[in-house]
Amino acid sequence: MIKLPELKIGNIKLKNSLMLAPMAGITDMPLRELAVEGGAGLVFTEMISATALSYGDRKTLKLLQTSDKEKDMVGAQIFGNSPSVMSESAKKIQDLGYNIIDINLGCPAKKIAKAGAGAKLLESPNNIESILSSVVKAVSVPVTAKIRIGLFKGQNIAPEIIEIAQNSGIKMVSVHARPAENGHSGPPDLKAFEEAAANAEIPVIANGGIIDIKSAEKFLKIPKCGGLMIGRGAIGDYDLFKRIEWFFDKNDVLPHPDINTKIKWFKKHILASIDFYGEEKGIVVLRKIAPYYIKDIPNACQIRDRFNKITTLKDFNILMDNIMQFSNSTNF
Ligand SMILES: Cc1cc2nc3c(=O)[nH]c(=O)nc-3n(C[C@H](O)[C@H](O)[C@H](O)COP(=O)(O)O)c2cc1C
Repeated sequence: MIKLPELKIGNIKLKNSLMLAPMAGITDMPLRELAVEGGAGLVFTEMISATALSYGDRKTLKLLQTSDKEKDMVGAQIFGNSPSVMSESAKKIQDLGYNIIDINLGCPAKKIAKAGAGAKLLESPNNIESILSSVVKAVSVPVTAKIRIGLFKGQNIAPEIIEIAQNSGIKMVSVHARPAENGHSGPPDLKAFEEAAANAEIPVIANGGIIDIKSAEKFLKIPKCGGLMIGRGAIGDYDLFKRIEWFFDKNDVLPHPDINTKIKWFKKHILASIDFYGEEKGIVVLRKIAPYYIKDIPNACQIRDRFNKITTLKDFNILMDNIMQFSNSTNF
């Protein structure tokens, strides 16, 4: 019988070993609160530029705002390539009250690679070592890292990077089990993840393609899998965390979200987003997230187009009422 592993990050014991992945432009405070409500044991901010934070950039500080709902369950992720700037930013984040700091060693985006950060660092283990150790030395909270299995297909550098990380004082590594060259597509490499976790002395968390119980189980079967990190599968389906926890820990099957549940989450999200950003921006920032809420609804494309023109809560509520009327009349 497979069970969810218990997870301790340094001295922090989490309520479960299920976490929301950091996602730029997505995992702001409103969405993180929903993930906590849906059962995540830990959530992450999107990647924060250590350089921008060192200048006290206002937008960057907004990305670091947290709420009581996610208190003690939120980690901040930073990226950069200078040990001193990264440590200075980590200290600032600790002073803001965060009790977990994560270091991005997996982002393949061109802009990040140009700055020598993210997955680009996987090409130079010496740099990784100096960044990780200086951040660990600079703060008293646990520091974690998020890595890739490798840069290109067939390469597995995770065991080497995990060894460097644990020797540098890192307390947990999450592994996106796809090569950096694949971006976020394709199946996760389960065998490479198994090899990555095999000799680790710190928790190694699986990430990539977890969208339901079946995909969660594939990772949980792997010896030494320390927990699961879920990205896109949890957007708009926050109860996925609860469903996984109940299935593996309580042997109970919770229902899949129906249209009413999805709309309930969408409405909650809009209200929280408006509260956080103001009415117009609060709605506009959800344009890239709306497809996750409406993808299973017939006419999803038309609904998305209508949503993309909306800038007021009143019009949003009209659209949601239209969807509900339509769904009740067609019984889906
Ligand atoms: C829109 C988007 C933004 C992302 N931003 C980040 C980020 O800021 N930091 C990071 O470490 N990974 C980032 N990722 C990668 C995710 O954390 C995760 O590794 C990836 O989506 C694979 O997990 P999934 O298959 O469950 O979605 C991002 C992914 C997406 C789709």
